[in-house]
Amino acid sequence: MNNWKTIIGKDINYAAQLLMAGELVAMPSETVYGLAGNALNPFVLEKIYKAKERPFTNPLIMHLATPAEIDYYAQDIPSTARLLIEAFMPGPLTVLLPKKSIVPDMVSAGSPYAAFRVPANPTTTQLLSMLPFPLAAPSANRFKAVSPTTTAHVFSQLHNRIPYILDGGTATEGLESTIVGFEGDTVVVHRLGAVTLEQLMEVWPKVVHRQHAIAEATTALAPGTMARHYSPATPLVVTTDVPQTITHLKPRSIGLILLKPAVHHGVCHTRALTQDGDLKKAGQNLYSVLHDIDKLKLDYIVVEKLPDMHLGKTINDRLSRAMVK
Ligand code: TXA
Ligand code: MG
Repeated sequence: MNNWKTIIGKDINYAAQLLMAGELVAMPSETVYGLAGNALNPFVLEKIYKAKERPFTNPLIMHLATPAEIDYYAQDIPSTARLLIEAFMPGPLTVLLPKKSIVPDMVSAGSPYAAFRVPANPTTTQLLSMLPFPLAAPSANRFKAVSPTTTAHVFSQLHNRIPYILDGGTATEGLESTIVGFEGDTVVVHRLGAVTLEQLMEVWPKVVHRQHAIAEATTALAPGTMARHYSPATPLVVTTDVPQTITHLKPRSIGLILLKPAVHHGVCHTRALTQDGDLKKAGQNLYSVLHDIDKLKLDYIVVEKLPDMHLGKTINDRLSRAMVK
C-alpha cells in the first residue's frame, strides 16, 4: 500500500493529472463518493481493488461523461436500456450491458456484462470530460463499510492510501445508484438505489426486483447485494418496535436513529434522519448519521424501519445488510 499524505481539495486539473498518471483519486458524485482510476488500465484497476481491500471477484462500475459514450464501450444495447438511459442519465442509474473488448475483463470481474453510469454531479462531469478514458469507481469506503457522502468520510477510511480527494460537496442523493440489467423485455433490478422501483415503472412497466439471496456470496451477479455490506463497526438492529427493542437491549448503551424526532427513554444518543419524514432527505442523511453514531462506540445502533416504499425500500435494504454480522 502506498503511504500517501492524502490531500482534500477542489483542484480538478490536479485530480485529472493524477488520474492521467495512473494514480487513484476519490471523486464526488451525486450518490456517494467514488474511488476512481483509469477504467481501461488493468494496473490501475488492481490499485483500486487493493486500496479498498476488495476481492477481485467484485466488479467495478464504469463512469462516463455523457450517455452517448456508452456506445463506445457497450454493444447490443437493448431498446429498453435505451429508454432508461434517456430517462435517467445523467443520474443515479447504472445499467449492465454486454461489454466491448476494449473494456478490460478486470472491470467486470470476468463477466461479459459491464456496469455503466453517467454521474450528475457537475464536478464529476467536468473531471470525466477532461480525461481520454472512463473512470472505474467503487464507493470510496473500505470493503463492506458504510459508503461516504462527504470528503471527511472518505478521508477517515482511505487516508494514506490515495493522493487526493476531490471535493465536490456533500452527495445530494446520499444513496448509491440503482443497478439494472435487461432480460428480454424485462428490467431486472439487481441493487435498489437512488432511483426507485416506482420511478423505473413510470418509464417501463415490466420491472422485477431480484432480491439477491441474503447469503455471503462474493460471486453474486451484483455483490453490492451481498448479505453483509454497508456496515458500521457497531452492531446494528433494525426494528418496527423501538420501545420493545430498547427494553430488550438495556442496560447496554444504545444510539437510536429515527425517521422523525421523538423521545425514547433508555438511549444514550438519538438522531432523526429528517424533521418531517421526507424519504429523500432521509436518504441524503442516512450514511452521515451512521458514520456519526458509529464514532461514539456504543454497544448498539437501533434504527427504526422505514415505510417500505420509494426510497424507504432502498434504505431498508441497506439497513438489513448493515445488520448482518
Ligand atoms: O452510486 C454508485 O453506484 C457509486 C458511485 C461511486 O458511482 N458506486 C458504487 O460502486 O456504489 P460499488 O462498487 O461500491 O458498488 C457497485 C456494485 C457492486 O455491488 C458490484 O458488484 C456491482 O455494482 N457491479 C459492478 N459491475 C458489475 C457487473 N459488471 N455485473 C454485475 N454487478 C456489477
Ligand atoms: Mg460500495
